[in-house]
Amino acid sequence: MAKDTTGRMRVTVKSGGRMKLSSKLWLERQLNDPYVAQAKRDGYRSRAAYKLTEIDDKFRLLKPGMAVVDLGAAPGGWSQVAAKKVGAADGRGKVVAIDLLEMGEVPGVTFAQLDFLDPSAPDRLRAMLGGGADLVMSDMAANTTGHRKTDQLRIVGLVETAAMFAAEVLKPGGAFLAKVFQSGADASLMAELKRDYASVKHVKPAASRKDSSERYLLATGFRGGAARNEAAAGEPG
Ligand SMILES: C[S@@+](CC[C@H](N)C(=O)[O-])C[C@H]1O[C@@H](n2cnc3c(N)ncnc32)[C@H](O)[C@@H]1O
Repeated sequence: MAKDTTGRMRVTVKSGGRMKLSSKLWLERQLNDPYVAQAKRDGYRSRAAYKLTEIDDKFRLLKPGMAVVDLGAAPGGWSQVAAKKVGAADGRGKVVAIDLLEMGEVPGVTFAQLDFLDPSAPDRLRAMLGGGADLVMSDMAANTTGHRKTDQLRIVGLVETAAMFAAEVLKPGGAFLAKVFQSGADASLMAELKRDYASVKHVKPAASRKDSSERYLLATGFRGGAARNEAAAGEPG
């Protein structure tokens, strides 16, 4: 075991050549990641739980009694954090979650294994919600193809579809949080969000790996119904 640049002990994996280099590097990163160790200690399904916790500590998004939608929820770290903060397990708040993959049960969370891009997804989610939402959050990440332009289009497509869905289900004053990558949201989506929400910003929590281009778009103060339509009507055609 050697020390890293911060003086912490660093684990190296000796695979004797039986492991692919990418697998060895992934395993070393997991073993040396303080958030992975912390998640294990705190009983969270993923280190991603700390990204939401940090964003929530700073912007106070989650409150008891709220209704939350978690898009791309597996393995469930964000759902766990949201369920705890809104009081979903004791019936005060509500968390509905979907993912392409299966997800083990999280107390208080209503889950469906579903592709968000499937045309039936918005109606299924609305039925699960049974009313408006206070927060729509998406940590969805499309599988990469290695072709930069295609990957970028897929990411933008997911964020735009999530934003459209959020605008349909959010209550006035609600918030939208979504994973974007380096490029952030594109200009037309930013313009729409700025029209629809009181505040729009990009955030990079400390738990988001420094070497990753991942960041989050946070839009708060959804103008909702009438106010939103008035703002749109005032815009030049
Ligand atoms: C980074 S993980 C989410 C981690 C999660 N927030 C947590 O705290 O455990 C991204 C997830 O998005 C899901 N995903 C990607 N595209 C999706 C889609 N079209 N519909 C539903 N889920 C999707 C993936 O299956 C993956 O589980």
